[in-house]
Amino acid sequence: MNILVTGGTGYIGSHTVVALLDSGHDVTILDNLNNSHLGALESISQLAGRRPLFYLSDLCNLDNLNLIFDHGHFDAVIHFAGLKAVGESVSEPLKYYENNLIGTLNLLHAIKSHNVKKLIFSSSATVYGAQPAEKFTEEMPTGINISNPYGWTKSMIEQILKDFAAAENTKSPDNPVEISLLRYFNPIGNHPSGLLGENPNGQPNNLMPIIMQVARGERSELTVFGDDYDTPDGTCVRDYIHVVDLADGHLKALEYLKPGVNTYNLGSGQGTSVLELIHTFEEVSGKTLPYKIGNRRPGDLAGFYANPEKAKRELHWQTKLTVKDAMRDTLKFLELSTNKTANNNSAQPVEPNPPERQK
Ligand code: WQD
Repeated sequence: MNILVTGGTGYIGSHTVVALLDSGHDVTILDNLNNSHLGALESISQLAGRRPLFYLSDLCNLDNLNLIFDHGHFDAVIHFAGLKAVGESVSEPLKYYENNLIGTLNLLHAIKSHNVKKLIFSSSATVYGAQPAEKFTEEMPTGINISNPYGWTKSMIEQILKDFAAAENTKSPDNPVEISLLRYFNPIGNHPSGLLGENPNGQPNNLMPIIMQVARGERSELTVFGDDYDTPDGTCVRDYIHVVDLADGHLKALEYLKPGVNTYNLGSGQGTSVLELIHTFEEVSGKTLPYKIGNRRPGDLAGFYANPEKAKRELHWQTKLTVKDAMRDTLKFLELSTNKTANNNSAQPVEPNPPERQK
């Protein structure tokens, strides 16, 4: 299939593009490089042995988006593009609502006007908000007690997609839209080659990139946000999923798309605490990771993880890689990206307008 991947040079997007190319699909990437680098495009091409088309563009530019769709003749869209820093979304809500919602609405206009019927949306376990249970199933209510605007944009987009699909499939039951909402838990790790990895611009919020900063010596120590939770070792428990497993989940979701909107939790189904993650890093690296126990972070839940049974049953997908595998691959990425000159920042692109196809 010919697939448009929005946000395809980002952390999860780039790993998914490699998996799509390896599976024989043709891929076009649309990305504004707000939180990624052109270097990812080179790594993708090197790993896949062929180069996806790349448009430096923004979903908020509907004219450019329509031009890309005019050229693209896409069979499906995988939609990653969006701002995703939880903390930043609290301090800059309008930026998040505008970018994530307007961008998605523009994408849906282009999808509709170009008769594209297959869409996979990068959602998040954040849409569950605070739940009485710790093992999350897709049937649980969402959009309640969400602690940040980022999570609200994911929840709102899920609703927009449900309403869009219901309307379209009522009008055209014989040519229905097929949408999958994939709710990620906590993606970590990177491609075993070490050529792709989590390389956010600006200050990371997530645990793994911060551990990497400490390991690189860019940060003196890790602050563990609280060790007085009701968990086995007092630190928060999360469902960490290797990004390569996550990318595979997208291929399976594409393969098993069905009319209407279907939702899947993509997680390992196992919980790992912050201290366990630190100790795994130390075991794999053979180095001590300096950390201190600090105050709780507002909005953090003690523990949650996926019930991945529905994805296993309907997508024939389950995680194969472990937290230890993720740590090993992270160290490989750390080693290569530390040794390599910062080629991620050397190629500063110029915004083509209208979008020019890069060969
Ligand atoms: C994990 C644990 C922190 C940093 C977020 C988003 C979610 C998804 C994944 C996009 C928590 C602890 C962290 C640090 C720490 N993103 N921690 N010290 O909050 O579970 O989920 O990222 O979809 O939407 O909400 O991930 O990596 O920020 O935190 O102790 O310096 O690590 O308290 O318990 P989180 P995280």
